[in-house]
Amino acid sequence: MSKLVVVDHPLVQHKLTLMRRTECSSKEFRELLNEISMFMAYEVTRDLPLKDVEVETPICKTVKKMIAGRKLAIVPVLRAGLGMVDGFLSLVPNAKVGHIGLYRDPQTMEPVEYYCKLPADMEERETVVVDPMLATGGSASAAVSFIKKHNCKHIKLMCLIAAPEGIERIQKDHPDVDIYVAGVDECLNDHCYIVPGLGDAGDRLFGTK
Ligand code: PRP
Ligand code: URA
Repeated sequence: MSKLVVVDHPLVQHKLTLMRRTECSSKEFRELLNEISMFMAYEVTRDLPLKDVEVETPICKTVKKMIAGRKLAIVPVLRAGLGMVDGFLSLVPNAKVGHIGLYRDPQTMEPVEYYCKLPADMEERETVVVDPMLATGGSASAAVSFIKKHNCKHIKLMCLIAAPEGIERIQKDHPDVDIYVAGVDECLNDHCYIVPGLGDAGDRLFGTK
């Protein structure tokens, strides 16, 4: 079964609580999501393999570590996933960015795909799917399935808040995909919103409601 990592650093928890508050403006929401994404990227990249390289300091030559192995791709699920890209890129500036456009049909709660553009060499990349909200898990599961069709075998999922239902769905559909979250909330409400959650992440990020 896939691993669930809760990034429980005090700064992350503090910033997440600020984001949840109804009075948090879109500007503050964007800034906080950006900052938390940076902290989370630190955890998501913790197991990147290292290799020995020779370097010359002003004092002498020595052998030290640098990142080896596969290159990274970040794939935000539109729209709200966009808010997690810049924070991630500030730590991994050379990562390529793909986009998957999905929205949740308000009647069926099923994800509907409307856009997809991924880097050409996905099979060579370690890929991190980013989306702030893992509610039923339908959108994230569909995004991961889509990326797998591009022969990408190394995928992680990074979300801000998850409902237990969403975690269960990913672990069932994609037992090979580790999940990184800043918080696990209580449940879903009748409209499949996370409780207590933070409301509609896309609307809060872009000020569309
Ligand atoms: C939100 C969120 C996820 C999805 C989560 O997107 O950003 O993509 O819902 O719900 P699920 O786990 O039940 O699939 P939404 O469909 O509201 O689209 P938006 O980002 O364009 O607002
Ligand atoms: N999408 C959101 O933006 N928020 C939720 O709580 C659930 C799905």
